[in-house]
Amino acid sequence: MAYQSTTFLIACFLNWLIQIHGIDQCPCHTPSLCKPVQIGPRSEVVAFSVYRGLWKYYDWTHLTTIALFEEQLPNIDPNLLCYAHSHHVRLVPKASFPVQQLTNKTHIDQWIKDKVKMIKTKFLDGINFDIEQSIPIISPEANDLIKFVNQTTTAIHSAFPGSLVTFDASYWPQCTIGHCYKNVAISKIVDFVITMNYDEEGSLIASANSPFRNTVYSIHAYKKAGAQMSKIVTAQPWYGYNYRCLGILIDDICHGLITRRNVKWNIQGNDDSSKSSIEYGEIEKYLNSNKTSGSKWSNSSQSPYFNYKDAKGAIHQVWYDNPKSLSIKYSYAIKSGIRGIGMWSTDFPNYVQYPKESAAMWKCIDTVLKNSKP
Ligand SMILES: *[C@@H]1O[C@H](CO)[C@@H](O)[C@H](O)[C@H]1NC(C)=O
Ligand SMILES: *[C@@H]1O[C@H](CO)[C@@H](O)[C@H](O)[C@H]1NC(C)=O
Ligand SMILES: *[C@@H]1O[C@H](CO)[C@@H](O)[C@H](O)[C@H]1NC(C)=O
Ligand SMILES: *[C@@H]1O[C@H](CO)[C@@H](O)[C@H](O)[C@H]1NC(C)=O
Repeated sequence: MAYQSTTFLIACFLNWLIQIHGIDQCPCHTPSLCKPVQIGPRSEVVAFSVYRGLWKYYDWTHLTTIALFEEQLPNIDPNLLCYAHSHHVRLVPKASFPVQQLTNKTHIDQWIKDKVKMIKTKFLDGINFDIEQSIPIISPEANDLIKFVNQTTTAIHSAFPGSLVTFDASYWPQCTIGHCYKNVAISKIVDFVITMNYDEEGSLIASANSPFRNTVYSIHAYKKAGAQMSKIVTAQPWYGYNYRCLGILIDDICHGLITRRNVKWNIQGNDDSSKSSIEYGEIEKYLNSNKTSGSKWSNSSQSPYFNYKDAKGAIHQVWYDNPKSLSIKYSYAIKSGIRGIGMWSTDFPNYVQYPKESAAMWKCIDTVLKNSKP
């Protein structure tokens, strides 16, 4: 009781400090842990973190950077901050920007000012751009985006020497599903781009989320387009897709709804949806329930999948990534000389219910990195 009321008083005092000074009190025992991580360029293992409180389950051996998404940002766990900085792991907030404001100088200047303030008051280490909005081909916005990223990067690097600015890019350097960003030009400005090597296939028939061949093409395409390998980090999926098959053809080919126009998955995101994303934790559950075909392996995409029947008798096919498919892609990425690897998202395994399977996801990174040492 006494402890609680003291804690309450301290919390009130800290709130008052924040309101008066606009700055958070350093929550770490060692004040130096509130300073941005100061370390030169290094190989990267970048975690995209979306849920609160799961960082305690991460394997911190090789982690270098954690990009924090929405749910974490308003109220960053102080224990995470101190722990990350004590392990020389950078924390960078996800940052989005409305593309229709790319020519609005007032908006840009205010936005940058807000981000600099946020980094300062929350003791962060830079920023991770995640724009994810449509920019059509032959549109001035693609160049405006470069200018905007440049202005922000310059501002953050000069306000916080040694800070990290990264950009979430598509797995092709050129246009991908209406996102015509000039990713190679952007890679020259920021510290590195993180290519999102997922959501790649599965439009006419069910197929892998991130086949091995696409990771290979992706790295080659960036190289050919003039990107430096030290500016590329590949993020691989720690999730998959669940397709409700209209039928299964020979060779286990699951096909979707046949509309008048074409064969297409209905991806409305409602209960009727016949294609939905599925987190690795949920996949662990299916596989542990033994009510599936068991994990099968596709040679052509170097990815695992399984089939199962739902309560209504409909056949489903789930395509995903596991330690085996990830090892193949992570090994290839490391051997190709890119800056590093990562995943969307570190919070998708079910660490509590399936600790062994979840640990295996991290273990594959450890094995790949150890094997890559000369
Ligand atoms: C430009 O940004 C400012 C500040 O956010 C906003 O008030 C203004 O409406 C914007 N202008 C346009 C044309 O959207
Ligand atoms: C980025 O900004 C700096 C400083 O304003 C400028 O010198 C440089 O040319 C810009 N680079 C690009 C690619 O726009
Ligand atoms: C699934 O099958 C394996 C191997 O036959 C067995 O060891 C395990 O207990 C089964 N799990 C469940 C949840 O039925
Ligand atoms: C997949 O590849 C393995 C090893 O190369 C081979 O033994 C196996 O027969 C192949 N399976 C199919 C279905 O092609």
